Amino acid sequence: MKELVLKKFAEVFGDGTGAEVYFAPGRVNLIGEHTDYNGGHVFPCALTIGTYGVARKREDNKLRFYSMNFEQLGVIESSLEDLVPSGEADWTNYPKGVMWAFGEKGMKVPFGMDLLLNGNIPNGSGLSSSASVEVLTGFILRDFFGFEVTNQDLALIGQYAENHFNKVNCGIMDQFAIAMGKKDHAIFLDTADLSFEYAPIALKGAKIVIACSNKKRGLGDSKYNERRAECETSLAELQQVVKVKALGDLDEAAFEKFASIIKSDVRRKRAKHAVYENQRTIRAVEALKANDVAEFGRLMNASHVSLRDDYEVTGIELDTLVEEAWKIDGVIGSRMTGAGFGGCTVSIVKDEAIDSFIEKVGAAYKEKIGYGADFYVVEIGDGPGRL
Ligand code: GLA
Repeated sequence: MKELVLKKFAEVFGDGTGAEVYFAPGRVNLIGEHTDYNGGHVFPCALTIGTYGVARKREDNKLRFYSMNFEQLGVIESSLEDLVPSGEADWTNYPKGVMWAFGEKGMKVPFGMDLLLNGNIPNGSGLSSSASVEVLTGFILRDFFGFEVTNQDLALIGQYAENHFNKVNCGIMDQFAIAMGKKDHAIFLDTADLSFEYAPIALKGAKIVIACSNKKRGLGDSKYNERRAECETSLAELQQVVKVKALGDLDEAAFEKFASIIKSDVRRKRAKHAVYENQRTIRAVEALKANDVAEFGRLMNASHVSLRDDYEVTGIELDTLVEEAWKIDGVIGSRMTGAGFGGCTVSIVKDEAIDSFIEKVGAAYKEKIGYGADFYVVEIGDGPGRL
C-alpha cells in the first residue's frame, strides 16, 4: 500500500519528494450504541482497515487534496485562509475542519500541505471513515508542526471539528476508538469522564464479521441529530425529579422509577434505550472478562432489539442482516453497529460457521432487499501512525 499511495502522490502532485505516509484505522463498535452523547459507556475497537494518507508540507498557505476514493473529483484546492465552517460539501471538509479546529484551540496551522488519501473502509458504511480522516489529519499536523497534543486530544479535536465545522453533533466514540486503538483490544470507555480501560479480545475459535448493508448513510442526512435532541429533552424532564447529569447516570431501576415524568412515549423509549444500553455494555464487558462469550453475544442481540424497537435506528436492511444472522448456528451475537439507518452489522461468528454465515445471510439479504451485502472478517488493529 505504501508504494501504491506514494506512486499515486507523485503522479497527482508532480513529484513525491519529501512526502510521508500515514495511516489511521476505522472502527467497529462491539456494544454501547447511542450512549456516547448520553454520558454512557461504549466498547469499540480500531480495525486494521482504515485510511492511508500521503502528506507533504508546503511553504505557502495552499492546500491541495486528492482522494483515490473520489478520483472523479480530481485535485481539490483550498487555502488555510479559507477554512470556513460549512455543511458536508465534499470529503475535504474533514481535513479542513481539523485544520480549522487546531486554530480554534490556539494552534494555528502555519503552512499548507499536499494531501492524498486512499481508504479501504467502505465509504458511508458506519465504520467511521470520516473520523479516520479526522484523526489522520490531526496526527499529520502534530507530526509536521510539533503541536503538543496527545492522541486523546486528537480525538477531541476531531470531534470538535465534526461538531462545529461539519455540524454533526456526534459523540466522542469514533474519534476516541481510532486515536487510542490498540491491537487485539477493545476500549471500554466511560464517555462521562473519558476514563477507559483496554480489554483483550481473544475470541477463541470465533471471529468478528462485519456485514455491510450497502445502504449508504451520512450522519448529516440521518436522523442522528434528532435522536440526540430527543435524549436531551428526556434528560431535562428527568432532571425535574432526579439529580442526574446524563442518562448514563441512571440504572434500569432508577429509570423505571422516574420514567413517567417523560411526557412523550417516543422520547421515553429513546431514553430507555440509552439507559438500558449503557447497563448492557457494562455487563457485556464483565461477561467478557469472565470468559463468558455466550453472554456477551446475548447482550449484543439485546442491543439490536433495543436499537430496532426503542431507538428505531435500524431499518429493513440492518434488521434483515441481523435477523438472518441469528438463524445461523455458530453465530454468538449479531447487531447493528454505528449510528444506524444503514451501514453495517457486527457479528461474532465461530470459525467453522463463517462460510455458511456469509453465504446464507448474503443470499437471504439479496433476495429480500434486491441488492447484495458485503462481508468482512476483520482484525483489531492499532491507532494512527507514520508508516
Ligand atoms: C456515530 C457517532 C458516534 C456514536 C454512534 C452511535 O458513529 O459518530 O459518536 O454516537 O454513531 O453509537
